[in-house]
Amino acid sequence: MENFVYYNPTQLIFGRGQLAQLEEKAKQLGSKVLLVYGGGSIKRSGLYDKVIAHLQAAACRVVELPGVEPNPRLSTVKKGIDLCRTEGVDWILAVGGGSVIDAAKAIAVGVPYEGDVWDFYSRKATAEKALPLGTVLTLAATGSEMNRGSVITNWETKEKHGAGTTFPTFSILDPENTFSVPRDQTIYGISDILSHVFEQYFTHTTEIPLQTRFAESIMKTVIENAERVLENPHDYDARANILYCGTMALNGTLPVGVTTDWATHSIEHAVSAIYDIPHGGGLAIIFPKWMRYVYRENVARFVRFAVEVWNVDPAGKTDEEVALEGIAATEAFFARIGAPTRLADYQITDEHLEEMAEKATPFGPIGQFKSLTSQDVREILRMSL
Ligand code: NZQ
Ligand code: ZN
Repeated sequence: MENFVYYNPTQLIFGRGQLAQLEEKAKQLGSKVLLVYGGGSIKRSGLYDKVIAHLQAAACRVVELPGVEPNPRLSTVKKGIDLCRTEGVDWILAVGGGSVIDAAKAIAVGVPYEGDVWDFYSRKATAEKALPLGTVLTLAATGSEMNRGSVITNWETKEKHGAGTTFPTFSILDPENTFSVPRDQTIYGISDILSHVFEQYFTHTTEIPLQTRFAESIMKTVIENAERVLENPHDYDARANILYCGTMALNGTLPVGVTTDWATHSIEHAVSAIYDIPHGGGLAIIFPKWMRYVYRENVARFVRFAVEVWNVDPAGKTDEEVALEGIAATEAFFARIGAPTRLADYQITDEHLEEMAEKATPFGPIGQFKSLTSQDVREILRMSL
């Protein structure tokens, strides 16, 4: 096991009816709030009205930033920063999925920063100060509700980068707020959660039984509940379990003491920077190809994955056969739940292969399980066509 420091200050408020806690939180954080949300799902579901009622009950004045795009854009973030500055906002409330939360995080660190907020994403600066941020999560996927990551797309330069920004002060997660998530977004969320675990599970760090079993527990729980939630989107317990898995997959629990990979996320970000495809859709396509490309680096880890997560029977098989069966089971699972399996599903051809491979490796080779150059990335993308 490697050395580690574990820190996570986000208060997670989980369960039915927990939105009622918003009033008290608003009273603590200040009398003027920037309410950040997306393209209208929270108005259709009725959540917007409930949020406004709680903020009004706390005598909180509301400035609104609607219209945050999936794959949130730098231009929208800058609009939010301007709004906060001209209106003298005390804190920010994000109500939505990962895109809304990521945009709100970028605004929170952008307001007290004198330079261009993109500096944080292009690794020119590190965020040190932030406005307080609360979130009401409506989609199980990114884990953004309990981490300091934020992923923003600069549409002018066609670059999509993540940065360490700020932890939410609190996040309210009511599984009922995810009942209205459409089937495709539910599938993308499941794919994103599993991918976060894969990024941290495939490692060369040894003697990490607790982290390994945590990761396997999350993967098994997601797999067990995936078909259940797709069959009945109003199944409270299935939604709740997937929601909690989404948070636990990326709130800093899994990587403690472990060298993690994250190459596949860089590759997906390069694809969606050019084609604006859903993050979880891209991951479902690329991850199994990455697995096939790298499994020989540590066949034993892939054997364990096959046996523990997919119940592959190793009797009478070579390690390589077992490992490959586990990868095939991963592919079959994604196909079974209706996730995309090839880039062609998004009409992506080899036209920008080179460009995507370069964009995935802007700061040099990526990944720890196997260090990938732009040439390796091109090969993985070619396998994904
Ligand atoms: O915009 P609205 O109208 O709200 O609709 C959204 C959007 O169209 C809809 N939706 C969300 N909750 C809903 C709902 N529709 C009905 N009912 C609900 N309850 O779903 C669509 C997708 O939302 P989005 O926020 O884009 O999805 P997700 O949570 O998957 O976020 C994706 C973004 O997060 C980044 C991704 O790259 C992508 O930009 N990531 C952020 C991470 C982080 N901060 O830690 C890590 C991840 O790996 C990821 O890269
Ligand atoms: Zn992700």
